[in-house]
This record gives sequence, structure tokens and C-alpha cells, in this order.
Amino acid sequence: MSTILTGITTSGTPHLGNYVGAVKPALEKIKESKKSFLFLADYHSLIKQQDPEITHKSSLEIASAWLACGLDPEETFFYRQSKVPQIMELNWILSNTTSKGLLNRAHAYKAAQDLNSEKKASDPDKGITAGLFNYPILMAADILIFDTDIVPVGSDQKQHIEMARDIAARFNHLYGETFKIPEAYISKNIPLLLGTDGRKMSKSYKNYIELFSEEKALKKSLNRIITDSLIPGEPKETKNSVLYNFFQAFANDTYIEEVNKMFSDGKGWGELKSDLFNLINTELKDIRSKYFYFLDNANEVEAILNKGEIQASVLAEKKLVDIRSKIGIKPLDEK
Ligand code: TRP
Repeated sequence: MSTILTGITTSGTPHLGNYVGAVKPALEKIKESKKSFLFLADYHSLIKQQDPEITHKSSLEIASAWLACGLDPEETFFYRQSKVPQIMELNWILSNTTSKGLLNRAHAYKAAQDLNSEKKASDPDKGITAGLFNYPILMAADILIFDTDIVPVGSDQKQHIEMARDIAARFNHLYGETFKIPEAYISKNIPLLLGTDGRKMSKSYKNYIELFSEEKALKKSLNRIITDSLIPGEPKETKNSVLYNFFQAFANDTYIEEVNKMFSDGKGWGELKSDLFNLINTELKDIRSKYFYFLDNANEVEAILNKGEIQASVLAEKKLVDIRSKIGIKPLDEK
């Protein structure tokens, strides 16, 4: 039983792939933990986009989504990063113990530089903000301030957790045991949900399905999933079938057996798509109505977060008093 923590950048609306790959596994992991923290990384979202409307809207949407999906704010510290200012303070402290060379190696920064060199830009850092460069330090501060043991993340975030470990170890080495060394938890048995065209589900490919589409829109999106041209009666392969990938992500063991049989019996694609719609819609129906309830009652979401923010700030301040004192920022009459 350990302390787990994860953050979600508030730069968009969650899609079905996020639900299957991030929200559900994180909520399960939270259930097994002794103490848990889930927060909206709203300052991280500035790195990806600087549209105030998006940051604001996405914060409400993401908070509402997690609450609708079953996050219990009585059991989990639920807060916005921006409302726990101790995190930003730690961010600065850690900026002074982290070597610039470590940040030079971050994938996100290197990818931005690679793009510049592809475009033959005169300056390899053209258009790259200091925020993007410092991203791993802010993420380390998020994690280390709450003595986190386990950080459930997607595999794309693995390097950031490794950097948080390096940053923690370096501080401990310089100032004495202060931070726990966190570990990434990357769940392996979650099938990656593909997009409707068979590529990775992503906003940029326009092949994603919104988590909270109304029934009609959900049906329409699912009908767009690509299939081959086999007709009803002809046996269908589950291997490499995008439609089957969707069934795998939502069906339990008993139902997937049935689906296997429907495929080998040659059920028509149209009927299979309608089965898939029923399966997903049944799971999402209640969640969807809760989500829209929270969107319409932003004041309730704000109040829930405020409560979590007060509690999280108390813990963060306690930790920071120790950290500040270690670096020599303490009352003048203290030895
Ligand atoms: N960078 C993460 C992402 O894009 C979000 C995040 C910010 C995070 N701080 C975190 C995740 C701390 C885990 C722990 O997905």
C-alpha cells in the first residue's frame, strides 16, 4: 500500500482512448492505494497551448470527467496544480539543483529541436519556450512534494519519471534525505485503443471518438471504424481488426468469448458495429449524464476542488518548511 499520484494536462477534452488507457486504470490503481493524489496540471497546459479559453474550459471538462468516472474526492486529494503554490516554489528550488544537461536530454525538448533542424531553422531553439525546456522540473516538483511512491502514467511519460528520480536523488545527495524516489507505473495489460482509421487514437489524426458524445454522435463515430469488405456469413478475423480492438477494450471475459464466436460465425460488420455501440453506450450512459451535470454546475466542481486544494496545500506547506530549512531559508534565530 503506497502513495500514488498522477496529473492530467488541461489542454483538451478527454477521448475514448484516454478513458480506456488512462482514466480507468488510474481509478483502479487509486482503489488499491493507501493515499492518492490526482490533479489538473493547468500550469503544464501553458507549455502546449496559451489560449486562455482552452485552459479554462478544459479544466472544467477534465475535472468533470474524472468526477463523472467515479473519482471520490473524499478518498483522493483532488486539486489544481495552480492552487497549490508550494509546487511552483519547489519548482524554483529544484531548478537550482538540476543540471541543464539533464534537461537537454528530455524527449519533448529534443523533438522540438529535431523539428527545427528538419525545417532547417537558423536557430535550433527557434520557437522553443523556457517553459517547455523546464517541463521535467515542474513535473518533478508535482511528484516529489507529496512523497509519492507510484506514478501511473502512459509510456510517453516514462522519461519524465526517470528525471524526477534523478532530480530527487541529486537533492538528497546535496542536502540530506528529503525526497522519496518515485516509481513509474505503466500498466501493460491495457490494450491500446486505436482510432477509427486503425492508427493510434489522436486529436491530430482526427480519428478519435469523444468520451462524452451524445448517443447519436457516438453511433455515427463507431460506424466510421474501418473494416474489410467481407460480407455477412463470411468468417471474420479478429487479428488486426480495428473493430475487434474496440471490443477488447470494453468487453469482459465472458462477452469477449461471444464476440470471438460472432467473428468466426461471420456476423455482418453492420450488426457487429451495432453490438459494439450497445456495449460502449451501456458503460458510458450514466457517466455521460453525470459529466453534463458537472459541466452545468461548475460551482460544485469549483467547491470540490477548493476543498482538495486547502488539504493539499497543508501537506505541501509542511513538506516545504523542511525543504526550505534544508537549503538555509529559515527563521534567523534558528540554528
Ligand atoms: N506531463 C503529464 C502528461 O502530459 C501530466 C503531468 C504533469 C503529470 N505533472 C505530472 C503526470 C505529475 C504524472 C505526475 O501526461
